[in-house]
This record gives sequence, structure tokens and C-alpha cells, in this order.
Amino acid sequence: MKKSKIFIACDTTKISKIKKIIKETNNTELKIGYKLGLEFLNSKNGRNFLTKLKNKITFADLKLHDIPNTCKSTIKAIKDLKVNYVTIHISSGLEALKAAKKASGKIKLIGVTILTSLNNKALKEVGFDRNVKKLVLHQAKLANKAKLDAIVCSAQEIKLVRKIFKREIITPGIRFTQKKNDQKRVLTPIEAYANGADWLVIGRDLTTGNIKKNTQILIDHLSK
Ligand code: C5P
Repeated sequence: MKKSKIFIACDTTKISKIKKIIKETNNTELKIGYKLGLEFLNSKNGRNFLTKLKNKITFADLKLHDIPNTCKSTIKAIKDLKVNYVTIHISSGLEALKAAKKASGKIKLIGVTILTSLNNKALKEVGFDRNVKKLVLHQAKLANKAKLDAIVCSAQEIKLVRKIFKREIITPGIRFTQKKNDQKRVLTPIEAYANGADWLVIGRDLTTGNIKKNTQILIDHLSK
């Protein structure tokens, strides 16, 4: 059977915590990648640590949201990290997506749709008139146009996105415990895979408390 693919969101500034996450999530049942985000990559030693991390699937969650030239230059500036994936907000615009894609080379460029921490009410607050589903679908079309390698959306929108986007779909907002934290659009790992997710992003449910135990809970959940 194919292994479930999980990106672990390593949201910390501590190198010791990252090392612990890598060690304690190590197992033969899951295919694991490591997502290093804004918190880690902006910390003093984070960037340096990532350049030395060998033989791992890595994902720099930079969530670029800027003008085409800056997006392009930033992608060039992180080439030394030798990550497998990097993110850009699709709302940066088609021109920025195309410029970033051109610069990304072997790095897979992931377009981030509407954040999983936002719901329809929150979208209204920031001035969007369309609902989450319509916006995500619209952004998926843009990602397709820019020939992006992958999309980040909530697991609730996978089926919608899949109709028009045939490459990888990566879904954060995954919960196998009761805690939602700041996330709004959540589903369980089983639900996300049933909807057709290629990769799940899981942070706090794995990295808070006993990491080994949490990993086993996830493995048990997936084997049900
Ligand atoms: O702890 P939790 O599982 O909620 O972590 C989710 C991770 O996925 C965080 O690192 C967050 O930055 C990232 N993310 C997200 N929603 C998106 C894109 C990325 O939660 N739309």
C-alpha cells in the first residue's frame, strides 16, 4: 500500500525542537516531509540549519506575497537552501506567479489559496465579496494558468480544486484531536485523503506534547 504523505509543520525557533520533531516522528509507515515556515526561517539559526539538512523532503513555507520582481528575486535568493517546495500566495497575481515559476527551476512552486484560518465572515472583514469556495476555485484556475506545481487549500475544497487542477494538492487545517486552535476550515486526515489530498500538513497535533505518542495516534487513525 502507498504510504500516507505528511508534511510536518515545524513551527518553532528552536533547533533542538526541530531535531526532536525529526527524531520522534521517524517511522516506516508514513512518508514524511518537513515544512519550515516563517517563524523558523526568520529565526537566527533557522536558515543555516535548513541548508545543512540533507536527504529530507523539505518545504520552505515563505508564503510570498509581493510584486513580481520581489517574488522572483526571493526565489533566486533561497536557491542555496535546496528545498523541494516553496509557497507563494496566489493573490500575489498572475504576473507574480509566472515570474516566480520561471525563477523556481527544480523547486516545486506551491500556490496558496485562501488561508485555512479564514472563513466567510473573516473574508468579508478584509473586503472580499465572494465566499471561500468561489475564491478558492477562482485561484485554482489562476494556479493552473501559471503552471504551478501544487496548490495549498483546505481539505474541504479538494474536490472543487481537483476538477481543474491536476497536480499536487496539499492541505493544512488537519486535525485528529479536538483542538482547532486558530484554524477554521479543518478536516481529519482520513477525510482529507478520502477527498483526494496528496499531502497533508500537520503541525500542532503532532508537535505539541508527546511527539512519539502523537505520531502513533496518527498512524492508528490512518489505519482505521
Ligand atoms: O498547527 P497546524 O496543524 O494548524 O499548522 C498548520 C501549518 O500550515 C502552519 O505552519 C501554517 O502556517 C500552515 N498553513 C496553514 N494554512 C494555509 C497555509 C499554510 O495553516 N492555508
